[in-house]
Amino acid sequence: MNETRKTKFPRESFVSMTELVLPNDTNTFNNLMGGRLMHWMDIVSAIAAQKHSNRHVVTASVDNISFKHPIRLGNVVTLRARVTRAFQSSMEVRIDVDAEDVPAAHKFESNAAYFTFVALDKDGKPTDVPAVVTETAEEAEFYEGALRRRQLRLILAGRMKPSEAAELRSIFDIKEP
Ligand SMILES: CC(C)(COP(=O)(O)OP(=O)(O)OC[C@H]1O[C@@H](n2cnc3c(N)ncnc32)[C@H](O)[C@@H]1OP(=O)(O)O)[C@@H](O)C(=O)NCCC(=O)NCCS
Repeated sequence: MNETRKTKFPRESFVSMTELVLPNDTNTFNNLMGGRLMHWMDIVSAIAAQKHSNRHVVTASVDNISFKHPIRLGNVVTLRARVTRAFQSSMEVRIDVDAEDVPAAHKFESNAAYFTFVALDKDGKPTDVPAVVTETAEEAEFYEGALRRRQLRLILAGRMKPSEAAELRSIFDIKEP
């Protein structure tokens, strides 16, 4: 790593966004449409990546997203995003989504996901971003896992050979080829 590389804490990229589920956001069952939620997740995580890099960013990939519980018309949705780890020009952002039925005072976790963004320079080319320095045990856990998740998504994108994924090999106890 470059010794003069700038560093940032995850809290410096933290973004919270709150939305009210309105009729135009729902499907025919009056539940929030998955596509609308993913749109909000893309926005909140792009802002986090911008805050980390102070650059324009593009979404490079979206990890798998599961919807555990339906979010209903009238619920309040809170999305929290922060950069977990930065590589060269790419940043992994974790998004945590909660929903709340405010009149019923019922709050529940909806889902969490990881999006990857790439910072671009003025010419639209990938450019280096600051490294992440963690401050809490939870941030350290996300930081450590980010390398494995990166290898998995690069393999799935056809950008890395499974044999090159040293971190993944160590989890599955696969010997060097
Ligand atoms: C993402 C993009 C900038 C990568 O450009 P590229 O010419 O392939 O650049 P590189 O090969 O130098 O890769 C740049 C970084 O992107 C990362 N990357 C590229 N594809 C990726 C993927 N599918 N998942 C995760 N990271 C990815 C690389 O690992 C690299 O990260 P690093 O610099 O931290 O090591 C380019 O593919 C692009 O512009 N894609 C379209 C983005 C877009 O329009 N998003 C909105 C979708 S509608």
